[in-house]
Amino acid sequence: MGTNFRVCSVTLNGDSTYTSETSDLVIPQNLTRAKSASDLFAFIATEIKGFLEVFHPDRLHASRPLSLGFCFSFPFYQASINSGVLIRWVKGFDIEDAIGKDVCQLLQTELDNVKIPVKVCAIVNDTLGSLMARSYTLPVSQTRTSIGAIIGHNGTNGAYLEKLSKVSKDIGQCDRSTGEMFFNIEWGSFDDKLSILSHTEYDQSINESSSNKDSSMFEKRISGIFLGELLRLVVEKLYDDPSVDLFPNYKRNDKSLTLRNRWTVDNSIMAVAETDRSMDLNKLKDKIALTFGFPAWAIKLEDVQAVRDVSKAIGRRAARLAGVAVGAVILQSGKLQQVDRLTMPAVDAKGVPTNDDNKESAIDEEEVSTIDVAIEGDVFKDYPRFEQYMREALRVINGIGIDGEQRVRIGLVGDGSAIGTAIVALLASQPGG
Ligand code: BGC
Repeated sequence: MGTNFRVCSVTLNGDSTYTSETSDLVIPQNLTRAKSASDLFAFIATEIKGFLEVFHPDRLHASRPLSLGFCFSFPFYQASINSGVLIRWVKGFDIEDAIGKDVCQLLQTELDNVKIPVKVCAIVNDTLGSLMARSYTLPVSQTRTSIGAIIGHNGTNGAYLEKLSKVSKDIGQCDRSTGEMFFNIEWGSFDDKLSILSHTEYDQSINESSSNKDSSMFEKRISGIFLGELLRLVVEKLYDDPSVDLFPNYKRNDKSLTLRNRWTVDNSIMAVAETDRSMDLNKLKDKIALTFGFPAWAIKLEDVQAVRDVSKAIGRRAARLAGVAVGAVILQSGKLQQVDRLTMPAVDAKGVPTNDDNKESAIDEEEVSTIDVAIEGDVFKDYPRFEQYMREALRVINGIGIDGEQRVRIGLVGDGSAIGTAIVALLASQPGG
């Protein structure tokens, strides 16, 4: 659950494949600011019931409850696998009475109210969901995923595997036997005090008009919804500035242009700005006309070039910041120093595990030293060269460099959060899980 909401039942085939049934829903705007949390969670519970009626009617009256993994893309404090206390809302949500409450409990109450045999047995942030999904779907001969990230339209964040010996905070009830645990970083709120991040007047304007002012400052430089608005703000400012010759063929200061409409820019214009390499930039020119409302005849090549340069600067900054976040996690995880042979099972020539601990693994050195990163989200997926710019940043980070960057394998995950959450729910519902 984020701004959209997906109900999904997953069958894990145990061989890195799965099948799933999915129903995608939009959370009605009024419920994102509902008077009470129960309004929102009652809606979710009713939709889950509707999903079961369509896809699994036989389970509606089963005596054994179905295990539900709750993917919750908001900051929460997790003291156990099936409890998550909401710290604050993001993504435009604002429901006062949910803050400080266990959202698993809130959902369970409403599931019980609609009388369906469903038990919330795990709560998972979407970052961990992606990490788990990619780890599950990778061929067994490949290094497991240790970092997961979301670089999406509505948010950005990361999760990674950390050694318990490095953790000083209270981590509640958990299985400590592996000596490691996954951490949800909530990097969207990195440097909310702005001691390091660049802060332009446009960033300031975004912050002022956002629903979570002075929070999620890193996210406001990376997530799609903010990138489009940043571009709009810069173009608007330049157009209104008499000392700048932007769109001089069109009447200055026209207040009726769609350029004036806040939070409306469709990010596909940024993808075109990144890819249109033609001399006349006609594709981008058409996009500018469509996005900002200038008639095509009034748009000069110089105008298009200026919009392109601004757009690329915003996109590249976002990607480089995302690269810095991933780089920081790589450094913190110690993975660059660690070549973890234990994660690599012995396999035969076809890559099938031999279950023979004494047999030499056929895995090559390159695979063993790979740091596998799962990334999910529209910005990463749809913005051309996002990965290239992220890698550019990784290469110039002290302690990573060109050699370290080459060891990073990034995999785009599709519907990862749902699959990964199902994996965690399965583990949690096992005896002793
Ligand atoms: C939330 C995170 C989430 C990220 C990506 C952020 O706004 O705080 O919990 O992982 O968005 O959805």
